Amino acid sequence: MRSAGIVGLGSYVPEKVLTNFDLEKIVETSDEWITTRTGIKERRVAAAHETTTAMAIEAAKNALKDAGVSASEVDLIIVATVTPDYFFPSTACQVQHAIGAPNAAAFDLLVGCTGFVYGVIVACQFIQTGASNCALVIGSEALTRIVDWTDRKTCVLFGDGAGAAVVASVPEGRGLLAFDLGSDGSGGPLLKAEALQSCCEMPSSVGLNGRPTIYMNGNEVFKFAVRVMADSTLAALQKAGLTVDQVDLIVPHQANIRIIDAAARRLGVPMDKIFVNLDRYGNTSAASIPIAMDEAKRSGRMKEGDIVVATSFGAGLSWATFVMRM
Ligand code: COA
Repeated sequence: MRSAGIVGLGSYVPEKVLTNFDLEKIVETSDEWITTRTGIKERRVAAAHETTTAMAIEAAKNALKDAGVSASEVDLIIVATVTPDYFFPSTACQVQHAIGAPNAAAFDLLVGCTGFVYGVIVACQFIQTGASNCALVIGSEALTRIVDWTDRKTCVLFGDGAGAAVVASVPEGRGLLAFDLGSDGSGGPLLKAEALQSCCEMPSSVGLNGRPTIYMNGNEVFKFAVRVMADSTLAALQKAGLTVDQVDLIVPHQANIRIIDAAARRLGVPMDKIFVNLDRYGNTSAASIPIAMDEAKRSGRMKEGDIVVATSFGAGLSWATFVMRM
């Protein structure tokens, strides 16, 4: 089996910034509450033209440029999203056409905030077996379009954006070293947005604009997140034959600084080994890890040869971790 890993990263975030102070004018909240309970200071909000597909396309182009790969070399496109512009066609097929990748198979993956990590692991299987040679994995979300702006418990948490990775074969000893994937559908009702289930009646969580909106039991998701991020990281590291001390950088799902803090304490990892940018973007679901990895690379926090752990949790409930030597 060949080795497979990430060889290029790119991202795109909308221009419009929504600060905690802006939110004070929309719901009964405060910058102080949001900052101390979540670590978030501001998030991006997509304009009308910044659709999930449009953001995915920009992130994909940036990742291809970073990898030095042309779109015609791409033979697999996976888009992780919970906020597609259409039920069908898939976002991945639209990206395939827009970037000009005539040789690519394309499909979407719905695993909530865990989707990008799942997607990278799936793409690595295709590369390792020789079924594909060059894959694009994208996480793209326009979550502010399904946020209930009257619900202060959720509307302060989410933001929009996209991130992408090019996955290809890499020298032996590099790339994906191990992974851990999991799900627990019994927790599905804790974090959800309805689609067609209630098509004959008004959905229970219908938003002001007539669309279904995000429902979340924050306290239960919080406890689940802390537990699975630590456990999944340890499970993946054990499979790789590594200890946490050997990890150069952990890139966790950017949901809440208190979740990251608590997971880091469970793992015994100092915070300076953990990449955090949620203060500027909030929770961008499947886009959070590729945006963070791209920024970590561009800022020099993530270097060639580093052992990097990406770990995520989300709706499903689901979780996933990969360990990669960059
Ligand atoms: N501004 C001000 N007050 C708020 C508020 C806001 N935006 N949101 C909630 N509150 C209030 C609540 O109404 C509650 O008031 P009460 O005691 O009078 O009822 C109080 O703050 C405490 O609420 P609680 O839900 O216990 O707060 P918390 O410290 O657990 O933080 C979350 C709430 C949502 C930030 C936290 O539970 C969380 O981060 N959960 C995980 C969410 C997540 O990561 N989801 C994404 C998964 S991919």
